[in-house]
Amino acid sequence: MNNNKRPESMARIETKQLADAFIAEQVAAVKEQVGDKKVLLALSGGVDSSVVAALLINAIGKNLVCVHVNHGLLRKGEPEQVVEVFRDQMNANLVYVDAAERFLKKLEGVAEPEKKRKIIGAEFIRVFEEEARKQDGIAFLAQGTIYPDILESGPVKAHHNVGGLPDDMQFELVEPLKFLYKDEVRVVGKALGLPDGMVYRQPFPGPGLGVRCLGAITRDRLEAVRESDAILREEFAKNGLSGKVWQYFTVIPDFKSVGVKGGLRSFEWPVIIRAVNTRDAMTATVEDVPFALLQHITARITAEVKGVNRVVFDLTPKPTGTIEWE
Ligand code: XMP
Repeated sequence: MNNNKRPESMARIETKQLADAFIAEQVAAVKEQVGDKKVLLALSGGVDSSVVAALLINAIGKNLVCVHVNHGLLRKGEPEQVVEVFRDQMNANLVYVDAAERFLKKLEGVAEPEKKRKIIGAEFIRVFEEEARKQDGIAFLAQGTIYPDILESGPVKAHHNVGGLPDDMQFELVEPLKFLYKDEVRVVGKALGLPDGMVYRQPFPGPGLGVRCLGAITRDRLEAVRESDAILREEFAKNGLSGKVWQYFTVIPDFKSVGVKGGLRSFEWPVIIRAVNTRDAMTATVEDVPFALLQHITARITAEVKGVNRVVFDLTPKPTGTIEWE
């Protein structure tokens, strides 16, 4: 039997009732698989790893060791949300690693996008491995694999930057979501009590803001991309766009342009806004964002984000543009 094939008898999980039944079934299966041994999970705060965490907390409580690596390239408020939801509300065994300085040092002066991705991926594994070695008695590794990852790897997960753990750290896998589609994962996440902000989150690349701060990352531009992204997200949420648009974010290129601020000449960065819709990320169309809203966001970003004097909107579908800028 191919144990990577979704059973034909499995109903589509569309209701809370079906999600509750799935959770009960998986809790029992996980308990049976791991017994009283410890399970390690890299918890990014993305939908899949968060749902796995919540499910395993239900099954094995503190025997799940969650490791949240803050690589300094997360969006505003994300690491705080992971700590609040999992440590404070769900009482999880959570190891929070602030590795921002380490990542930024490794990335210093590196401008080539694929090189940046490799550095971020390799450093992530190194930090995760170090934390794993500090833990006694880990016997399993949990992963947020979902069914589309098994069926085919589209461009979202094809960019798998994270390599593997070394040979002496090979654990048996626990993958409770491996037969679920994304919409089902969200229904299960809601049933597990995760906040909407986590369950309905837009996709966010592993290298995070690192590929949205174009070229060699600098701390000031990284801060500006984080702050402008937070403003964009806040305004999209206020205007009912956050549930409608597939992916939206800001990008900061590594050049400046001339502007005028408070009657004085300024020489500062532009912010690029990207808002796209797609089914599978292979092609994408641009969201028709109301002009008045774009003007309002522009006014906020240029007033509130340090070092920015200009905002532009990316009108390019995929192809010819990719969704990300690098
Ligand atoms: P592109 O830019 O290739 O993006 O049109 C397609 C989708 O993939 C995401 N993306 C990534 N995801 N690691 C990831 O985990 C990456 O290095 C990466 N690069 C792009 C992108 O956000 C979009 O959803």
